[in-house]
Amino acid sequence: MTPEPATYPEELRTLVDSELGRLAFGDDPTTDGLREAMRYSVLAGGKRVRPVLSLATARAIGVEAGSILPIALGTELIHTYSLIHDDLPAMDDDDLRRGRPTCHKVFGEDVAILAGDALYAEAFTLVLTRQHGEPADVLRAAARLAQATGVDGMVGGQYLDVKDAMGEGIDGLRSLHALKTGQLIAASVECVLLASGAPQAQHDAYSAFSQELGVLFQVVDDILDVTETAEELGKPQGSDERHGKRTYVSAFGLDGARDLATRSHQTACELLAAAEPIGDELRRITDYIATRTN
Ligand code: IPE
Ligand code: IPE
Ligand code: MG
Ligand code: MG
Ligand code: MG
Repeated sequence: MTPEPATYPEELRTLVDSELGRLAFGDDPTTDGLREAMRYSVLAGGKRVRPVLSLATARAIGVEAGSILPIALGTELIHTYSLIHDDLPAMDDDDLRRGRPTCHKVFGEDVAILAGDALYAEAFTLVLTRQHGEPADVLRAAARLAQATGVDGMVGGQYLDVKDAMGEGIDGLRSLHALKTGQLIAASVECVLLASGAPQAQHDAYSAFSQELGVLFQVVDDILDVTETAEELGKPQGSDERHGKRTYVSAFGLDGARDLATRSHQTACELLAAAEPIGDELRRITDYIATRTN
C-alpha cells in the first residue's frame, strides 16, 4: 500500500507564495512583457520545496525564518528559471508546467529564454542586496548558490542529461541527479548555514543530509514521470521515456527505482538525525519528498 504523503509545512509554503507575489522586478513599462512572463512562471504554483527547505533549516538552527527570505526566494527564482529552460523545444520540449501551458508556449521561445535569464540575475540581486548577515557570510552563501547552479551544479547536470553524457551504471546516474537537482536542493539548506555563520561541523552535517535529499528528490521525480497522470503532476507524464532519457526507472525498472528511493530516504533520515537530534520540520519535508505524488 502506498503510504499517505507526509504533512508538509503549509504555512511556510504560504509565506513563500505571498512573498514571491510581492516581487515586481522593477517597473519600467517598456519591459512589462518580460516581467509578465517571469511572474507567469514564478506565480504558477509549485511545491516551493527549495524555499520551504531554506526556511525550515533556519528554524532548525534557531534563526528566524523571515530573516532568510531573500535566500529562500532566490532559490525559487533560480529553480523557476531552470524549469522554463528545461521545457524549451531544444531541451525537453514540454507544453505543460505547474498545470499551465509552458512559458514559451504563451510568450514565445525568445521571451521565455530571457525570462529565465532575468530570473537568474534577479535571484542574485535579491541575495546580494537584501540578505541580512555578516557581509562575508552572505558572500559565502551567494558563492555557494552560484556554484550550485553552474558547471559543477545544475547546468552541468542538465548538460549530462541532454547529451546522455553521464558515466555508466548507478554511479553515473547518481552523479547526474546530484548535479542537475541535488546541488540546488543542497544549496537551499547550506546557504542558510553559511549566511548565518554556523560552525563548520554543523554546516557539514546539514550538507551531507541535504545532498542525499537532493538525489532522493530526483529519483522520486523519475518515478512519478512514469506512475502519475499529467493532471496530478501539472506537467506531461512520460516525458523521460519520450525523449529516451536514462533515469533510475529506465535503468532499474519501477521496483528497482522504488527500492533505491526507499534506501535514499533512509539514508537522508539518518543523516538528518545526525545533524539535528531534536526537531521534526525537516524530517516532515524529507518524508514528504519521499511520498509525494506530484
Ligand atoms: C521539478 O521540480 C524539476 C526537478 C528538479 C525534478 P519540482 O518538482 O520542485 O517542481 P515544482 O517547483 O513543484 O513545480
Ligand atoms: C529537470 O529534470 C531538472 C532541472 C530543471 C534542473 P526533469 O527534466 O526531470 O524535470 P521535469 O520532470 O521536467 O520537472
Ligand atoms: Mg529535463
Ligand atoms: Mg523536464
Ligand atoms: Mg522529470
